[in-house]
Amino acid sequence: MAYKHVPVMREEAVHYLNCAPGKRVVDCTLGGAGHAMAIVERILPDGLLIGIDQDYAAIKNAERSLLPRAENIRLINDNFVNLSDILFSLKVDEVDGILVDLGLSYDQIESSGRGFSFRKDEPLDMRMDPQNPQKAADIVNTFEVRGLTRIFREMGEERQAGRIARKIVQRRKTASIETTGHLAEIVCQALGPKAAAGKKIHPATRTFMALRIAVNRELEVLDSFLNDAVAHLKPGGRICVISFHSLEDRIVKRRFNDFAKGCQCPPDFPVCACGKQPVLKVLTRKVRRPSAAEIRANPMSRSAKLRAAEKLQ
Ligand SMILES: C[S@@+](CC[C@H](N)C(=O)[O-])C[C@H]1O[C@@H](n2cnc3c(N)ncnc32)[C@H](O)[C@@H]1O
Repeated sequence: MAYKHVPVMREEAVHYLNCAPGKRVVDCTLGGAGHAMAIVERILPDGLLIGIDQDYAAIKNAERSLLPRAENIRLINDNFVNLSDILFSLKVDEVDGILVDLGLSYDQIESSGRGFSFRKDEPLDMRMDPQNPQKAADIVNTFEVRGLTRIFREMGEERQAGRIARKIVQRRKTASIETTGHLAEIVCQALGPKAAAGKKIHPATRTFMALRIAVNRELEVLDSFLNDAVAHLKPGGRICVISFHSLEDRIVKRRFNDFAKGCQCPPDFPVCACGKQPVLKVLTRKVRRPSAAEIRANPMSRSAKLRAAEKLQ
């Protein structure tokens, strides 16, 4: 079945990537291949697209939609944290553009059956890569109160993290928690009826987001990936990251700013001792957001934030 995911901020992404014939671009998050298709249209006939996704379903979809269009496309089923190894295996050292469009595709949420949403009662899995050994149910049924609290607080910014963690540990004594419906019901019980009254978001939103981030190690992966990504950009090459929650965006903003800074010696040092040179120029001093028209047409885009940077000579 063809992917239904609608690419977010597609025109802005290809604009910032500066796509042009002959360029080599990595799309680290193929998903429904909407961005990849827009890139391919601009870099062919001589360019190279390397498409990565940790979800094999996305690779299968891209094989159908992208491969018939060109020879210069390589599709890799892996985590983008392994970018260096992936490029090494393809004998590619540097590239002109790197795109990351974080989070989940519409199809993963709606039809993967892996429990990404509390709106459907599905197995509590949440793995983007089904080979990953740890499912959300493993965390929920084995972590102690402290570990669960830390996940909900740090990865979901959930103020009632401790209360939810204690309720989970209490309720799993009777029956292990294996479905999204069961977990959502426990979170609602932990927070009480007031938590839902008059609120725009479901009381379990933050808990589910935190678990998904923990299962897929999303924050560690992003942080470590950004270092490698910048190392593999050619001078003048561009990196563009679209993120969907503030924790990810903070990492991107901080990393880009670090790369854009030169000397970091204390101000009273007479001469620079650190030797740090700026490596990136940030192209989006102010974060870019989707237009009102895009949000109306595709509500999934509403929390998107795009940041882009260029590697210095
Ligand atoms: C929002 S979708 C991308 C949509 C895509 N840009 C499009 O135009 O259709 C995110 C995709 O990235 C993949 N993904 C997320 N984190 C990843 C990671 N660390 N490594 C590889 N793929 C990842 C997910 O499996 C998902 O398919």
